[in-house]
Amino acid sequence: MSTSDEKLTKSFYDRISHSYDLLADSNEHVAREKGLKALAISAGETVLEIGYGTGHSLVSLAEAVGETGSVYGVDISDGMKKVSEKRVTEAGIADRVNLSVAITPPLPFDDQAFDVVSMSFTLELFPLETIPTVLQEIRRVLKPGGRLGVVSMALPKEGDKDSFLEKTYKWMHQHFPHIVDCQPIDAAGFLKDAGFTITAENSMDIWTMPVAVLVGTSPA
Ligand SMILES: C[S@@+](CC[C@H](N)C(=O)[O-])C[C@H]1O[C@@H](n2cnc3c(N)ncnc32)[C@H](O)[C@@H]1O
Repeated sequence: MSTSDEKLTKSFYDRISHSYDLLADSNEHVAREKGLKALAISAGETVLEIGYGTGHSLVSLAEAVGETGSVYGVDISDGMKKVSEKRVTEAGIADRVNLSVAITPPLPFDDQAFDVVSMSFTLELFPLETIPTVLQEIRRVLKPGGRLGVVSMALPKEGDKDSFLEKTYKWMHQHFPHIVDCQPIDAAGFLKDAGFTITAENSMDIWTMPVAVLVGTSPA
């Protein structure tokens, strides 16, 4: 991603941070919750969320790791950080949540720092050629055998045609990438190419558009 693209992404998410839940959350929360369930987080684990948005998953992750675990988050947007900070404070779990604002990639964390990395509706925002770099960074910060959870807009199954909405969405992404910034991806293919073993794979639809819910495990 070029620096001007990153600036546009940052200002876009800063602008929508206070209305994001109204725009997106009613559709996305079911998929996000499926993704967190598939990750089966245990008490005491150290978890990173990339693209934490308005912080709903941060709260669920912090509850799952309990008092002995910790949750880290990185997001490009200061606006999203403010909204998330309010949410985790109100949920009473701010003491185990550490939030950063930074552009991924790279990830501003040490090698093998995390048991789990989670991303929902974020991997598909990166240009296709940047996704392998993002996944290599995730491999670097995961402990051997660590889990990566991805919830993302997906390509239709082989033989299935794009729905009208999917076609419109793709067209909008192609022509107005800063209005519709995400694109359906073969997330499982990207994870496999990056050396992850797919250990859980589910799919669902949001308004006729396919969504993948995946867990990939890093080599032990
Ligand atoms: C579509 S929202 C999804 C938010 C949240 N994960 C959810 O499921 O509701 C994508 C999030 O990724 C963040 N983001 C976009 N590009 C990023 C980048 N290059 N580095 C870090 N965060 C980024 C945005 O600010 C936004 O909060």
